[in-house]
Amino acid sequence: MTQLAAAPTPSVRVRAPGKVNLSLRVGAPQDDGYHPLVTIFQAVALVEEVTARQVPEGAGVQLTVEGPQSERVPLDETNLAHRAAVLLAERVGVAADVALHLAKGVPVAGGMAGGSADAAATLVACDALWATGLSRDDLLGLAAELGSDVPFALLGHTAVGTGRGHLLTPAMTRGEFHWVFATRDDGLSTPEVYGRFDEQADGAHDPELSEDTALMQALRAGDPHALGAALHNDLQDAALSLRPDLERTLDVAREAGALGVLVSGSGPSVAALARSRQHALAIAATWTAEGAADAVWCTSGPAPGARLLA
Ligand code: C5P
Repeated sequence: MTQLAAAPTPSVRVRAPGKVNLSLRVGAPQDDGYHPLVTIFQAVALVEEVTARQVPEGAGVQLTVEGPQSERVPLDETNLAHRAAVLLAERVGVAADVALHLAKGVPVAGGMAGGSADAAATLVACDALWATGLSRDDLLGLAAELGSDVPFALLGHTAVGTGRGHLLTPAMTRGEFHWVFATRDDGLSTPEVYGRFDEQADGAHDPELSEDTALMQALRAGDPHALGAALHNDLQDAALSLRPDLERTLDVAREAGALGVLVSGSGPSVAALARSRQHALAIAATWTAEGAADAVWCTSGPAPGARLLA
């Protein structure tokens, strides 16, 4: 029996999450300049919402954005959502004519993969809008071409990432973890942080990156105290050397009783693990009172990956 493709929908809405790296272990750069990683991602409930709407033939990709710090988001073809729409259109042989509206809920340029979430949501939205018939694996392949963190924004929940961070294995977790993020108005450049990391390693990179067993156990047990003690980021010293004021943000969270605190990904966002939602709010209030953050964000993880909204 032949299956007919569903009629294209005029407009679709997709939500995709930001992330925190619970653990990030980084090896020596390869010939392509990328660093091999062993990382454990957790998706959090700070989300990007992308609405994709059909536009007349020849209109191209039209991008609009709303939300906190949206003035910092480029609206040209360098935007990852724009690139995602063009890449998908090329791959399936349709014209890249679509209006994309990004409602931002993930801090911009903070090491929390907000741009990657936009790209993942755009892939899912345009896939539905254009009824491409691609498989989930096809979409994961396109996601990896767009950026190292994009496949995880498709998958969500908690996962171990290897390769550039794009090869994913879901991790078992129990319960909900309460997070609070301190963000800065001026971001850090990811390549610059990796560059400083290489300078600091001075040729003595860790030759064997291994998965964090204590951290994986803490996740399986749903034990926030053990998870807090196991948080780790190889890029933290590099981020701190570029932004020494982040040290105080880490200290203030520790003094406020955070179970663990670390720079998120390549920074400059700082993530603190709290005992409860109430405790997360208390840490956020202390960060604000001490002037140790430009903005604070309370949330929880794990959260689902990119999905269509009804
Ligand atoms: O893959 P993505 O475009 O997100 O990476 C941004 C930059 O981060 C890369 O150009 C590279 O400098 C650095 N990077 C890296 N190794 C990784 C991931 C990112 O060196 N595994």
